[in-house]
Amino acid sequence: MTQENAIDSFENALARALEDGSFVKLSLGHYAGAEDGLKSVHVKQVIIKRAPMLSFTTRYKTRDIVKNYPPDAALERIRAALGHDFRQALLCTTAFDLELTAPQGKAARLKKMPPSQREAPSLAHDRSKTRLVTTEGKPWLHALNITDAGGSVLKSAQDKYRQIDKYVEILSGLIKTLPPERAANIVDMGAGKGYLTFALYDYMRHALNLQPQVRGVEYRADLVELCNKIAAESGFDGLRFAQGSIADYDAGGADILIALHACDTATDDAIAKGIAADAALIVVAPCCHKQIRRAMEKSRAQGNKNADFDFLLRHGIFTERQAEMVTDGLRALILEYFGYTVKVFEFISDAHTPKNVMIVATRNPKMKMRDPEVLGTIAAAKARFGIDRHYLEDAAGL
Ligand SMILES: C[S@@+](CC[C@H](N)C(=O)[O-])C[C@H]1O[C@@H](n2cnc3c(N)ncnc32)[C@H](O)[C@@H]1O
Repeated sequence: MTQENAIDSFENALARALEDGSFVKLSLGHYAGAEDGLKSVHVKQVIIKRAPMLSFTTRYKTRDIVKNYPPDAALERIRAALGHDFRQALLCTTAFDLELTAPQGKAARLKKMPPSQREAPSLAHDRSKTRLVTTEGKPWLHALNITDAGGSVLKSAQDKYRQIDKYVEILSGLIKTLPPERAANIVDMGAGKGYLTFALYDYMRHALNLQPQVRGVEYRADLVELCNKIAAESGFDGLRFAQGSIADYDAGGADILIALHACDTATDDAIAKGIAADAALIVVAPCCHKQIRRAMEKSRAQGNKNADFDFLLRHGIFTERQAEMVTDGLRALILEYFGYTVKVFEFISDAHTPKNVMIVATRNPKMKMRDPEVLGTIAAAKARFGIDRHYLEDAAGL
């Protein structure tokens, strides 16, 4: 078979598979072209706005770029690449797999094999997730090393990007339940490098068309300086970062109080600031839970063993997990005591981060404030686990 014929046969097999619905996937490898870092291309079928498309994922050393094309344009691209830029291609159909190899200076060859997959993937469930945080024309995402200059998410930043997007998805749903004047002043405690602070501001300003004042509070002066520089360069005039500790920050007037992964009792300081400001929304994703863990361990070491739980608490890993639940469970109760409806849920799959619990407290004017029954529940829970005080009790003046 001549080189021309092997490539023609491969193209024909591909076109037929697309036509008769037996197409599973296609990959192009052994790249011999001029683009730096390009490794391979992977093609699958997707349905976008009810139209069939072919989705190309181009893999580079440090990032992936996904682009979708209508079938004709896609076939043209594949034709142009076969035997030129890519010296190997694998077509998988439900009837057979077909490999094309076209080494430089040698005749192209086809190898037909039994199918590696006998069912075509369901297209209905194969749409890529629509992200709220779009990446094109967002210099701040590049400045924070989430994307490259062209707006493609860096491979090393995929998890962070998913987390940012999920966070904006959750926050946007909550913000839409508030009257605009109760979403005007936002404080993000322990803002760090500001990924989430920037994403929220950008989304509120440009997607929701709101004019929020967003403040990030952060210990580290270098991060504050960097974030203020990027905010100014992005023309985000309602976004500023302040250097200092959460406990010392004057959060008066805050409508929304956020603290994501602020360490240990810094989360309690942030919640207390939200309660004191009578914030409409308090959103925290706790980090480590040392204060309650130490209290539980100390109590047990002193011989206060709770017969019901001791079979768990003698194992360090269970104490750690139990301390997390007790810490956050008591936080939820204390928030309820101050008139908040509280939800605790998984923020993002633990495949992406183990710090994945989110506490969302919504000020509920109909709730009974300072209910002694809630205080009783708090006291009983503390006694059960040998805890003298929860840090948040003191921070919130309970
Ligand atoms: C793990 S990072 C999280 C950053 C960001 N919120 C995020 O989720 O991407 C926690 C940040 O909170 C800051 N931080 C911790 N305790 C703080 C406190 N008491 N006052 C101010 N900043 C604090 C740390 O310096 C760090 O930058």
